[in-house]
Amino acid sequence: MKHLIDPMDLSKQETDQIIALAQDIIGNREKYQDIMAHKKLATLFYEPSTRTRLSFTAAMMELGGNVLGFSDAKNSSVSKGETVQDTVRVVGCFADIIAMRHHIEGAQQYASEVCKVPIINAGDGSHSHPTQTLTDLLTITRELGHIDGITIGFCGDLKFGRTVHSLIKALSRYKDINVILIAPDELKLPDYIKQDVCDRLGIKYREVRTMEEVMPELDVLYMTRVQQERFLDMDEFDRVKDSFVLDAKKMALAKPKMAVLHPLPRVNEILTEVDDDPRAAYFRQVENGKFVRMALITKLLEWKDDPSHANADAAPAIDPSVTGELAGLRCTNPKCICNNEHAPNRFVRTASGTLRCKYCDSKIK
Ligand code: CP
Repeated sequence: MKHLIDPMDLSKQETDQIIALAQDIIGNREKYQDIMAHKKLATLFYEPSTRTRLSFTAAMMELGGNVLGFSDAKNSSVSKGETVQDTVRVVGCFADIIAMRHHIEGAQQYASEVCKVPIINAGDGSHSHPTQTLTDLLTITRELGHIDGITIGFCGDLKFGRTVHSLIKALSRYKDINVILIAPDELKLPDYIKQDVCDRLGIKYREVRTMEEVMPELDVLYMTRVQQERFLDMDEFDRVKDSFVLDAKKMALAKPKMAVLHPLPRVNEILTEVDDDPRAAYFRQVENGKFVRMALITKLLEWKDDPSHANADAAPAIDPSVTGELAGLRCTNPKCICNNEHAPNRFVRTASGTLRCKYCDSKIK
């Protein structure tokens, strides 16, 4: 079965098929208006959302299907202590496909191991957000006409920004991508993305401290919010929260065709004076999110029983309980599913030889 937990669960060909289908849906809405009749999508959102949950809902409705679920886990049996594992086993009896957001990293990976219907990761903690990635790839394609060869600047919270982590992974599949990382020291891109994605897959990247020094080079500027909810130390949040603000003066330094993306919500990192600039693509990006989710739901249900589209387990998990070699090792990330439910500690050894948690990608020491 095909689940979408991480952007790399999709091959380049599958990603291209989803982007192409989204483009066709945009041009031929009526052709698709009944194709999900009698099908049900469950949206299980353990963490707040506006765009992702509502765009999944709108996507399924536009395909002629139905939607059930919860937008606040407190109103479900989660409040009585029901686990992720049991919840998805139960919801899999009611729905054909599940989109799930969780504040715990790896929750959807764990869910996919026990659920009988496809699971879509709609964001897990600071870890991954693959449907935002599909949205971003469609938006870049529509704004610039191509993805190969772009120079993209990621600005703001690159440490906790799951959309950034997922998009960099997905970009590794394209040719001649040049990444520029613009972040304060406290919010730099995690090492596992630099080592296991950029270094291993050959993405050129460099780190800079100001937006002004790179604005003229960029084809895409990907702005992000500094996420207060991910900080354990509020003094640190106060120090970095206003690090980078995009305004009309900085836009004047950019190429005439640069596209400004932002997964949204924004706080103050893009001034509203930028909104009417034709290069501000972030509200078009929101609409693309609905079309790409229509394409994703369609493809995952089409591929469900086709073994040639099953998730490839590129790095089989190493279970310490059976290897002995790893007995006693634990994931130390307090936000990982391993440390929040009775999920096993399971590890993968990456191509660069590092041992990482299968669920949250944390380095195992
Ligand atoms: N981009 C995004 O994930 O937005 P929401 O948190 O509103 O879903």
